[in-house]
Amino acid sequence: MEKMGFSLILVLALVTLSTSSQEKCILTGTWQNDLGSNMTISAVNEAGQFSGSYLTAVSAAKKPILVSPLNGSQHIDNLGQPTFGFTVTWSFSVSTTVFVGQCFVDHQGKETLQTMWLLREKVKSAEDNWNATTVGTNVFTRINGQNMGESVRSDL
Ligand code: BTN
Repeated sequence: MEKMGFSLILVLALVTLSTSSQEKCILTGTWQNDLGSNMTISAVNEAGQFSGSYLTAVSAAKKPILVSPLNGSQHIDNLGQPTFGFTVTWSFSVSTTVFVGQCFVDHQGKETLQTMWLLREKVKSAEDNWNATTVGTNVFTRINGQNMGESVRSDL
């Protein structure tokens, strides 16, 4: 009985150690996605809210691309791989994009943001509504900021 209690404590200690020693995925910083778009997320407040800026590499609008504001929030997640969502209100077009995703960190400390998005374009009337929303996915990797993970360590 005593042996079993000891083993249980040992297992608990090991599990605690392995989860707490894993780096946390932090949204603050500058990220680039698979299309070449860049975004910068400023500090996340204690409620999980953040703002930032987005420079898309591609656009459906026939206008010069400009940096656009983003606003979002994340779950405050002790295990460090939070889900999040944010909205980009494009400053050079009348469209809006919402992203949802999760921040993952691997065993080397490399972070990725796995996201899905909905891009809503403005149409003339409700009859055109069926054609107004596009869906897609983007994967973001960190190019600058808080938790540089493997990229910093391999430079040492
Ligand atoms: C527009 O075309 O009206 C605004 C730009 C939309 C860019 C989209 S949002 C989803 C996808 N991911 C990106 O980084 N850019 C495109």
